[in-house]
Amino acid sequence: MLTIAFVTSALALISAASPSPLQGRGVRIALQKRDGLSSVAEIIDISTLLAALDRTNSKFANGLAAYEANTGEAHPLTIPSNLDGFGDNGDDSTLKRRAATAKGTEPLTDDNSGELWQGALTVGTPAKTFTVQFDTGSSDLFVPGPSCTSSNCQGHAKYSPSSSSTSADAGKTFNLQYGSGSVQGDQYNDTVSISGLTATKQRLGAASAYSSSFAPKNFPADGLMGMAYQSISEYNSPPVFQSLVAQKQISTPVFSFKLSSSGAELLLGGADSNLYTGGFTYVPVTTQGYWQVKLDAVSVNSSTPVKNVQSVIDTGTTLIVANASQVKQFYATIPGSKDASSTVAPGYYTFPCSSTQHVSLTFSGKNFTINPSLFNLGRVSSNSSDCVGAVVGSSSLSFWVVGDTFLQNVYSTFDLGNNRVGFATLK
Ligand SMILES: *[C@@H]1O[C@H](CO)[C@@H](O)[C@H](O)[C@H]1NC(C)=O
Ligand SMILES: *[C@@H]1O[C@H](CO)[C@@H](O)[C@H](O)[C@H]1NC(C)=O
Ligand SMILES: *[C@@H]1O[C@H](CO)[C@@H](O)[C@H](O)[C@H]1NC(C)=O
Ligand SMILES: *[C@@H]1O[C@H](CO)[C@@H](O)[C@H](O)[C@H]1NC(C)=O
Ligand SMILES: *[C@@H]1O[C@H](CO)[C@@H](O)[C@H](O)[C@H]1NC(C)=O
Repeated sequence: MLTIAFVTSALALISAASPSPLQGRGVRIALQKRDGLSSVAEIIDISTLLAALDRTNSKFANGLAAYEANTGEAHPLTIPSNLDGFGDNGDDSTLKRRAATAKGTEPLTDDNSGELWQGALTVGTPAKTFTVQFDTGSSDLFVPGPSCTSSNCQGHAKYSPSSSSTSADAGKTFNLQYGSGSVQGDQYNDTVSISGLTATKQRLGAASAYSSSFAPKNFPADGLMGMAYQSISEYNSPPVFQSLVAQKQISTPVFSFKLSSSGAELLLGGADSNLYTGGFTYVPVTTQGYWQVKLDAVSVNSSTPVKNVQSVIDTGTTLIVANASQVKQFYATIPGSKDASSTVAPGYYTFPCSSTQHVSLTFSGKNFTINPSLFNLGRVSSNSSDCVGAVVGSSSLSFWVVGDTFLQNVYSTFDLGNNRVGFATLK
């Protein structure tokens, strides 16, 4: 079993109280995050927020399109119109390698600048190290290639196929559309290693262009490693984890995440029983594309405004982003809540800071509660009595993207062998 650690960082949007690396990036809205005993002023950078939303909405559009191209059938979550919504999220961090306990173990670290969960892998021969976001909401690996010289790639490590003795040009391009541009380039096969596990002839993209939502200020990792099913792969090739399993680097086709602000970790090859208590509540994957499962209910205290919807469990999305009309119903149950599309960002809502919202998601009949301090993103401004909620509406989504706002409350396991996702109580 291998463990990869990540970084954490809290919700991205919310940077640390002290002057943070997020500053200096455009228009900002000051928020306070209610955090345990003290309330701390925190700065949210709206451009980072919007970039993250762009990545989430665009990512789902790309995956749904790839599914149709790969299988010849429209994905059940596809909606007829074009995407344009809003989203949420962010995420990145830096994987710091902990004193390795086992092959494949990498610790995740808390990076205040980040919003993403990221870790390290190597590509090529000799091995070159890249940080990547480990993203259960997509299926492809890409990093910047040598011809990505625009400012969006500057500051990111670059993969040079000509410098790798194991690279092979697959003779294909790739093009992932993002609202802010596209991530495009050429496909290669090369050796990819993560924490001592090696996949040979792994398909990856060497990007010649990055959209601005992947510029270092918005996306600290160099690249992205998708961890969902091959059916949503733009390359229609086995994702890294599937390659590791096929190449017998991993015997149990399961990976698990702890995404909390301390000791965050990705384990490849099983679940780390030191990190959770009790058993897992498993939810079957309904369509093998995303890690898509039925979400029985979304509750606030004793109200259940949303029932029986499809959801995608996505480590690559910071918040919970969902169908706009269902999110509106959700906030309608919270007294004093307001649509903050024009005051914060499209899709956002506020609620009275003086209240404490106990939001829970029910999977396979079991309630999992979101810590109220994770649901509360902070004050709209320093003297506002309105706080921003971590459930955000997107006009482009028919379903619920269950991101880090939820995943930080549980230990989660992704079981490719049995096509199910499990949640357990964090130790
Ligand atoms: C890339 O690897 C795949 C197996 O993963 C193989 O089928 C294909 O032929 C390889 N392509 C090149 C150009 O080596
Ligand atoms: C989950 O919590 C909600 C709100 O607290 C409650 O109404 C519902 O009955 C609970 N469901 C289960 C399965 O415990
Ligand atoms: C839930 O209960 C808390 C008190 O525990 C209250 O502050 C909050 O407003 C309630 N939310 C709803 C939607 O009733
Ligand atoms: C908020 O507080 C600041 C000073 O702390 C003050 O300058 C500003 O006018 C206040 N805004 C409102 C809307 O009260
Ligand atoms: C959002 O959900 C409502 C029903 O709750 C549905 O009518 C609508 O089509 C959904 N929106 C999208 C974009 O799928």
